Amino acid sequence: MKTEARPYVGAALERVEGVEKVTGLARYAYENFPDDLAYAVPVQASVARGTVLAADVDAVVRLPGVIAAIWHGNAPRLAPADNAELAVLQSDRVAYRGQYVAVVVAETLQCAREAARLLRIDYDAEPHDVELRADHPEMYRPDRVNAGYPADTELGDPDAALAAAPVLVDATYRTPAEHNNPMEPHATVAVWSGDGLTLHDSTQGVSALRETIAPLFGMPPENVRVISPHVGGGFGSKGAALPPVVLAALAAKHTGRPVKLAVTRQQMFAVTGYRTPTIQRVRLGADTGGRLTVIVHEAFEQSSRLREFAEQTTTPTRVMYAAPDRRTAHRLVRLDVPTPAWMRAPGEAPGMFALESAMDELAVACGIDPVELRIRNEPAAEPESGLPFSSRNLVGCLREGARRFGWADRDPTPAARTRGRMLVGTGVAASTYPVYRRPSRASARCEPDGRFSVRIAAADIGTGARTILTQVAADALRVTPDRVRVEVGDTALPAASLAGGSAGTASWGTAVVRACEALLEELDLRGGDVPAEGLEATADTAEEVGEQPEYARHAFGAQFAEVGVDLDTGEARVLRLLGVFAAGRIVNPVTARSQFVGGMTMGMSMALLEESVMDREFGDYLNHDLAQYHVPTAMDLPDVQAYWIEEDDPHLNPLGAKGIGEIGIVGTAAAVANAVHHATGVRVRDLPIRLDKLV
Ligand code: MOS
Repeated sequence: MKTEARPYVGAALERVEGVEKVTGLARYAYENFPDDLAYAVPVQASVARGTVLAADVDAVVRLPGVIAAIWHGNAPRLAPADNAELAVLQSDRVAYRGQYVAVVVAETLQCAREAARLLRIDYDAEPHDVELRADHPEMYRPDRVNAGYPADTELGDPDAALAAAPVLVDATYRTPAEHNNPMEPHATVAVWSGDGLTLHDSTQGVSALRETIAPLFGMPPENVRVISPHVGGGFGSKGAALPPVVLAALAAKHTGRPVKLAVTRQQMFAVTGYRTPTIQRVRLGADTGGRLTVIVHEAFEQSSRLREFAEQTTTPTRVMYAAPDRRTAHRLVRLDVPTPAWMRAPGEAPGMFALESAMDELAVACGIDPVELRIRNEPAAEPESGLPFSSRNLVGCLREGARRFGWADRDPTPAARTRGRMLVGTGVAASTYPVYRRPSRASARCEPDGRFSVRIAAADIGTGARTILTQVAADALRVTPDRVRVEVGDTALPAASLAGGSAGTASWGTAVVRACEALLEELDLRGGDVPAEGLEATADTAEEVGEQPEYARHAFGAQFAEVGVDLDTGEARVLRLLGVFAAGRIVNPVTARSQFVGGMTMGMSMALLEESVMDREFGDYLNHDLAQYHVPTAMDLPDVQAYWIEEDDPHLNPLGAKGIGEIGIVGTAAAVANAVHHATGVRVRDLPIRLDKLV
């Protein structure tokens, strides 16, 4: 929606760094070549649990070109970290297969790789335990799950309500471990000069990375500079500091040389996190008209021995549907596995696969259209907190989606339609994602020539953040975007929150608006006179963000899928995917569509393709490359459409924007699985939907 006051927020501004990117001028972390650069190649544990007894570092440092071989026996000491994953080379214990146990630094990459391959490590291996089971004897209830949510919630008497419910769905769903595969793997160039450390790093948040790295090396944060102007995707995997960046800094410190460490695609399957596998039991009780009386959602997940990472799998169930009696619960077991991490909509993506599959099962059980079933269970306020929604347009998304998709004449009978060699079917599911906002700082500066610079240590991980902040600043300054230059991705800029939780636009946008307002005020006071050295104003949103009135703030959406399942082979393909979202004001329709479509594509991939398979004997994910871990190509999703509903929500931030980075993946896998059921009559409750589950 364009208004006089905001001509550019809402406009389809082209990516401001587009030309830089397509001409190769945009410099990514790996593309830094400081003088005297050395190359680091890590060595990964070949046992899943045990002790490192010895590393024959003397043999490899004699090889020509090798500068150092480092293991816990000779590594620089780091300060203790809360996150034991970051205590890299600090102990002889092996917590998972693939963990870093040594690193070789050499004059060339080839030399470092060869020496790392030759480095002999002796282990005392112990039996490992790598299998997630709901009945694992060490399953426990964490105090809290991620993002600070309580692990368990309960309202009313769900057990009595289940016993009394006229219609009952009781089903267990499984989602596999999944690994993030951004186009650009993690990479760091670490340069020490005296007490100062510069990191060129592929990260979703330079400020957060600095705050984590500095204390490990016993330094104040201002001694660390993180530079990350361009990032080739992250999806959460670059949200928090991980072992590779610590290892690069440690190797550079040990050798006194600038060190480059690029994580290989194969190594990403051990050291850069993954989505926890889940086992989820959902019980829904309803009257014969499909009105829910009770919802129980229990999730079982894993973490490593090193760190408790408790994903918030059932939290969307606290938000979605009305029911007087309800319970949600999370249980966790610590195994000899790598620590899980964030992957696009961590929690919501697997959690909503289970809930929205169960809703489809309920629709079938009650003989009610699944769109209508969801509308019947629409709550007046947030079901568990009782808070009013700042805005909630799930019903609008369902209706608009049904209209655009052509849902009205759908025959609910399963396995009743063929097209050529395929059984075809359609399915629907809902989406939701919370609206977060975090404190950030920004500065706005007017140059004597009438141009403006806006600086904020935000991250553009391919989302278009730099572009939309240019639009936001242009409107706040009441100038055209070509007069505004936005700088991001450097701790030399005012500190900002990371690109995570779909909170970038809301968090950084607020800071940019406030800095621009402060600058205009300053300019006003000076009668519009800009001094020769320019004029600058800064803003810090800590207070504003901390003082929000209480509302339930969430984005919502509806996903519609059409699938075809090969009659002979059982191979399922998504023919059509259509999503409608209600996510507040859309700042840029081009970059926003790309986020929605990207999320939906990842959701389709979650439904049909992605699965990290645990090798129980070796205790490691065995399909650790893109030949064996499947991600979709354009041909796997020929028709994907994203739309949105105009939403005017005054309770969010100065932009009225909700996050859009993650909601596109939420619900998509359920829409596909529901369509597969409609096509074939087979209910697949464990992802991905491989052909062997359908024949
Ligand atoms: Mo996102 S998984 O919060 O980076």
